[in-house]
Amino acid sequence: MKTIIAPSVLAADFANLQRDVEMINDSQADWFHIDIMDGAFVPNISFGIPVTEAINRHAKKPLDVHLMINNPDQYLEAFKNAGAEMISVHIEACTHLHRTIQKIKELGCWAGVAVNPHTSITLLEDIIEDLDYVCLMSVNPGFGGQKFIEKTYDKIRALKKMIDEKGSKARIQIDGGVDEGNAAKLIEAGASILVAGSYVFKNENPKLAIEKIKI
Ligand code: DX5
Ligand code: ZN
Repeated sequence: MKTIIAPSVLAADFANLQRDVEMINDSQADWFHIDIMDGAFVPNISFGIPVTEAINRHAKKPLDVHLMINNPDQYLEAFKNAGAEMISVHIEACTHLHRTIQKIKELGCWAGVAVNPHTSITLLEDIIEDLDYVCLMSVNPGFGGQKFIEKTYDKIRALKKMIDEKGSKARIQIDGGVDEGNAAKLIEAGASILVAGSYVFKNENPKLAIEKIKI
């Protein structure tokens, strides 16, 4: 089973969004990764529902919406209607995570939980069987182009062990600082979904960059 590659549109040229969406359509990428930031949960604001809808009008591949926002429950339906097929929420932003995950599933989307670098994955023990994927943040969320945190490899291995022991179907997604220098090692550790922003969009040849990490 080949790794799922999800280029992060955050690093695209917003003034040429249709062109960049079509580049992803024509590439070996599998999903569009859509980073939603509210300026409260994370110290940055990206874009919201209308831009997600606009991307979806041209995208020929599923949208994976990463909600870096407080109170995500309030917006799940709106993002589903905007085209989301996968939705991840932050464990740090959800007081009633089980309820939030059930809501995502009721909407017919893949349900994911994103985990900040400082958050222990042991907090996933009682929810892992309900998840379609776990997004392990390998940078502090809020910005593209940050340095990959090496500790992530240990977290992937520990999470993989938990997933196998619990018989969960959850996949491990890595988000932040992914490039051709670490992709193989991440997959070897147990990741099967790679998000990549700057590496893809700042590359001279974005389609080839995608091919190189689709291992
Ligand atoms: C970070 C976002 C990431 C980001 C990754 O808050 O969740 O998806 O776009 O960007 P790169 O690949 O540049 O680290
Ligand atoms: Zn993201």
